[in-house]
Amino acid sequence: MADRPVRAAIAGCGENGIGRGTRAGADLWFTHAGAYSRHPRVELVAAADPSADRRELCRRVWNVDRLYPTVDALLAAERIGVLSVCTPDETHASVALTAIAAGVPAVFCEKPIASTAADAEHMVTAARQRGAVLAVNHHRRWEAGHREVRAMIARGDLGRPLAVTVLFAGGFRRVGTHAVDLLRYFFGDGAVVSAATFPDESVQARLRFNGGVGATVTAWPKSGSGAYDLFEIDIVATRGRVRVADFGAQIHHWPVMPSDEYGGDLELARQASVVPSDMRSAFVNGVDAVLAAREGAPLASTGEDALEAVRLLEAIEEAALATPAATGRIRA
Ligand SMILES: NC(=O)c1ccc[n+]([C@@H]2O[C@H](COP(=O)([O-])OP(=O)(O)OC[C@H]3O[C@@H](n4cnc5c(N)ncnc54)[C@H](O)[C@@H]3O)[C@@H](O)[C@H]2O)c1
Repeated sequence: MADRPVRAAIAGCGENGIGRGTRAGADLWFTHAGAYSRHPRVELVAAADPSADRRELCRRVWNVDRLYPTVDALLAAERIGVLSVCTPDETHASVALTAIAAGVPAVFCEKPIASTAADAEHMVTAARQRGAVLAVNHHRRWEAGHREVRAMIARGDLGRPLAVTVLFAGGFRRVGTHAVDLLRYFFGDGAVVSAATFPDESVQARLRFNGGVGATVTAWPKSGSGAYDLFEIDIVATRGRVRVADFGAQIHHWPVMPSDEYGGDLELARQASVVPSDMRSAFVNGVDAVLAAREGAPLASTGEDALEAVRLLEAIEEAALATPAATGRIRA
């Protein structure tokens, strides 16, 4: 007899939970409802949201009819195998802690894990104590191209990193959590060296990772003339360069090779090779990883990892406040 599907539920029927109201495009690829709908071993059976309109959208678009105004009501009525936490950042901790206390075996939480490191610590501790899976959707970690870049770094294909740069536009916490998490994914544990804010509200931070790898994060709010989305990471190293652009959809690798024109000199290859990536697979791969973790497999994106990301963001904010030339607080 075929295994019964795992019963999934979503807390928070917003953009990330269920999307804008279609069953196509970003709604299908970059929402939890879309990922569950495409996963053969999962059935999305229930959802909770205080907004009646959002619950109605979930019913209409994703055919979910067990809908509740609160997570407590959902958990009282349903036996759930995995709960997605897609509520606003500051509510992740209370929703996840409620689910873990109710015996839900796996929580698939949106990033950032929480809005403070203290909240994130409670989540990590509760999950450990109850033996629950706590996965955080830093979704690049579930994607093959990013996994390959990490493997290239680990194998030494790129040599020693000389300059690592992350650029992003958008909320410092909301997008920045991806930036610092990806740096940790590639280079291991990190610490903040310095940070400053500027009159245009941009932020620049220097971080140092395992083995002395230095990285610069430059970010600016997505507003005014800079109101377009951007997220890139560039790794220039002694044996080559990798650039992850277009939100991970384009990853290019240039190995170092002898120059055709200047005998004896080395330079980057003129033509980059493509590192295949498929960002559309990321959310459904995440669901897959959560199911595997329920059966004991190691997770690529744990609550502990996400807690470290929040700690780094808090350390950047503290360093920026303490920098004499800084204009002050970083806009979240
Ligand atoms: N993985 C990614 O790249 C990615 C992308 C976008 C957003 N996110 C994250 O997803 C989360 C949600 O963001 P969003 O853009 O969907 O926000 P949103 O405002 O569109 O949706 C949040 C929903 O949660 C509901 N809600 C609020 N409190 C609730 C509670 N206690 N219980 C149940 N429902 C509750 C709201 O009514 C709303 O419908 C955030 O943490 C955000 O950072 C992640």
